[in-house]
Amino acid sequence: MSKVALITGITGQDGYHLSELLNNKGYKVYGLIRGQQNPKKIIVEQEQPYIDLIEGDLTDPASLVQAIETAQPDEVYNLAAVSHVGYSFRNPILTAEVTGKGVLNLLEAIRVTGGEKKVRFYQASTSEMFGGLDYNRPGKGYDENALFHPRSPYGAAKLYGHWITKNYRESYGMHASCGILFNHEGERRGIEFVTRKISNAVAKIHLGLQDHIELGNLDPKRDWGYAGDYVEGMWLMLQQEEPGDYVLATGETHSIKDFLELAFKEIGVDDWKPYVRQNPKFMRPAEVDILLGNPEKAERVLGWKRKVDFENLVKLMVKHDLELEAPRIIT
Ligand code: NAP
Ligand code: GDD
Repeated sequence: MSKVALITGITGQDGYHLSELLNNKGYKVYGLIRGQQNPKKIIVEQEQPYIDLIEGDLTDPASLVQAIETAQPDEVYNLAAVSHVGYSFRNPILTAEVTGKGVLNLLEAIRVTGGEKKVRFYQASTSEMFGGLDYNRPGKGYDENALFHPRSPYGAAKLYGHWITKNYRESYGMHASCGILFNHEGERRGIEFVTRKISNAVAKIHLGLQDHIELGNLDPKRDWGYAGDYVEGMWLMLQQEEPGDYVLATGETHSIKDFLELAFKEIGVDDWKPYVRQNPKFMRPAEVDILLGNPEKAERVLGWKRKVDFENLVKLMVKHDLELEAPRIIT
């Protein structure tokens, strides 16, 4: 009998990579899709016909009960969220409803349908919960025991999701695990996130489709890995006998300027500065200045290790966007 997984956030970056991984492992995959006319539905249906889509929304508890009853999952991966930090400042209440309380809605749907002893649950926690402050172990990075200090409505909502997941583990004996994932990127990254915004603009600049890119703060540093590597870690967490919390990270940190430098090098440009303009519109009321993760526990217990390094991540993203944008040139 093949295992059954239900993935929320199926139309997102990680939803794509995780469903590919689970399908390759022989799982029956269900995906939660929201909205009456979600334009991404047709893309999922075309690209990943093996996924059974179930309509539902993290803010609608009844739809989640129905989803659990329909899928009868062995494993539930909660990837759905309002996930953009800048957007969360502009829409903090929605963010709390979806990214925070939505986790509780899903855990309750599992519990009231009697799944708390059977279902294994993954919560997409985040390095944003650390906030870049209290960075008191330079060189080592944040691990599972580091202090939390969220710096955005998104980070605060995720922290609620993190703790309520741990609470269901402790209160009801649920096999519920939190992956505290540092930034992970790739060809499927949403265009509103800085790495993809840069790789796509670099491709368009090279092809003559645009002449500059507007960005916000260029100094923050992130621990950037490849999304395809990170979904393997999510799966591994649910294969352990005991649930737990794990940091997934590369253990390296790079600035946005570093990303720009490598990305522009891919199109033969040594000095990126003439192509970049700063626009306060993309600045945030509070910034996370530096994130660096320590994945020692995941490497030791799960046997997980990232494969794609920073340089190759930038390369693969720019290469992908050059191929994506080239057909748009009108000759
Ligand atoms: P993403 O591409 O932004 O995808 C978010 C998903 O959530 C989309 O499928 C979206 O559906 C869905 N969603 C939004 N609101 C919803 C609602 N009310 N009900 C149901 N679904 C809803 O995010 P990602 O990069 O794949 O990340 C996956 C998860 O990991 C997120 O929870 C994110 O916060 C977390 N995380 C990401 C990173 C990272 O670096 N990527 C790092 C740490 C943690 P629509 O397509 O319908 O909008
Ligand atoms: N998005 C964006 N757009 N960010 C910009 C821009 C811009 O034009 N210019 C500068 N930045 C800076 C942001 O201020 C931030 O310091 C950094 O680039 C990274 O921004 P994002 O790519 O939006 O990612 P994030 O680090 O805020 O959040 C991502 O990673 C988290 C894990 O640490 C998201 O995927 C979150 O969902 C995830 O939890």
